[in-house]
Amino acid sequence: MPEASKTTPEVTLDEIVALCKRRGFVFQASEIYGGLASTYDYGHYGVLLKNNVKAEWWRAMVGERDDIVALDSAILQHPRVWEASGHLAGFTDPLVDCRTCKLRFRADDLENAQCGRKPSLHPGEHSECDLTDPRQFNLMFKTHMGPVEEDAAVAYLRPETAQGIFINFKNVVQFARRKPPFGIAQVGKSFRNEITPGNFVFRTREFEQMEMEFFVPPAEAQTWFEYWLDERERWYTDLGVRPDYLRLREHPPEELSHYSSATSDIEYLFPIGWSELEGIANRGDFDLTQHAKFSGEKLEYFDQERGEAYVPHVIEPAAGADRAALAFIVDAYDTDEFEGRKRTVLRLHPRLAPVKAAVLPLVSKAGMPERAREIYEDVRSRVPAEYDEGGSIGKRYRRQDEIGTPWGITVDGQTLEDGTVTLRDRDSLEQERVQAEEIADRLAAKLAEPWQSPKLAA
Ligand code: GAP
Repeated sequence: MPEASKTTPEVTLDEIVALCKRRGFVFQASEIYGGLASTYDYGHYGVLLKNNVKAEWWRAMVGERDDIVALDSAILQHPRVWEASGHLAGFTDPLVDCRTCKLRFRADDLENAQCGRKPSLHPGEHSECDLTDPRQFNLMFKTHMGPVEEDAAVAYLRPETAQGIFINFKNVVQFARRKPPFGIAQVGKSFRNEITPGNFVFRTREFEQMEMEFFVPPAEAQTWFEYWLDERERWYTDLGVRPDYLRLREHPPEELSHYSSATSDIEYLFPIGWSELEGIANRGDFDLTQHAKFSGEKLEYFDQERGEAYVPHVIEPAAGADRAALAFIVDAYDTDEFEGRKRTVLRLHPRLAPVKAAVLPLVSKAGMPERAREIYEDVRSRVPAEYDEGGSIGKRYRRQDEIGTPWGITVDGQTLEDGTVTLRDRDSLEQERVQAEEIADRLAAKLAEPWQSPKLAA
């Protein structure tokens, strides 16, 4: 990965939050009840965008490869899974409570926290602060299976999707007849009782992960670790993220998770500064060995050619769908001036854009809406599209620019005479006249083309 050269974010988190709300991407959850801290609901365009992010991940992991299979494991697993994985004992953050303001802080991050008293200082610095000694706080959400709330019925909401993959290793080897190197990919919700959630959807207690566990012969682990670092970085840049806003950060030994022998984070320059976008870890044989020990099942691969069994090592690229969607929005966010007015535009990769084309009659009369509807039906049979006839054409263009629609198709008086429409490009603002019957094919072809952020040229 090239050295990241940027140091200052271009856009504030407030601007991103405002756009997401204004255009219906993301809302505060339980808003009519005053909101529930750090939980969010995705609206129409947010769902479409996040679905596109996940679809691109599936395409890269499974659609374009022969060595990775898909899985959808349960959120609730046997409690022994979390004993074996180390999450019961090791998935903890040290925290301190303040007896005065009743707030809870991460003991290892007090310098970034604010105490609950005014004027606000760091916890422990105000004369009224009364902090407890640090205690280990487990980040897993606990619940009970069945109607009886007793210890025997305790279950946990998964804090990562990865464990569901490890415990299905045997199924995949047996039923999908896989031999290492091979991977198992999964996308789904995870839950962590984060002590310091925040920064919009960057860190929440309920979030979606896109994880893939790649099982390899032990001697090949380092090679595959480096391979996945490159692949995963390329995924972001192929989808338009500017390389200057990405960097790789290797974890020092004291930061490594309990299961990892090496981890590097792909970081993005978010409005809050450089922060983890995705982690790529070499988990060695930790997980399979632990689950074999706790379950009593053999979790090995028998190499017929060499006549020996071995426990594969695992390379894990682990990304967050919400965090990736946030990074794509941040990277795409731009403002410029058009016809003397400020324009906000999301320069999203067309494959990520929630809507690919908007079909707009210039005015709501003279047969234009009817013809525009026909064209819309044709276009949306090939690419996701939207029909919009409300308000001035300028206002409708601005709305589409803000949700990142790459192409606008306008039906005007000339359309009724010669069958052409104007095709407007979101980024260059160029308009050309195209035969209406050609539009759907043209856009489907454009969608398949490689794409670069126009912000790179700026
Ligand atoms: N299985 C390894 C694992 O879970 P992680 O670094 O804790 O590793 C992987 O999580 C990715 O999941 C992160 O890089 C991030 O994108 C996303 N993620 C983790 N915690 C999150 C949270 N509280 N809110 C949103 N996304 C989160």
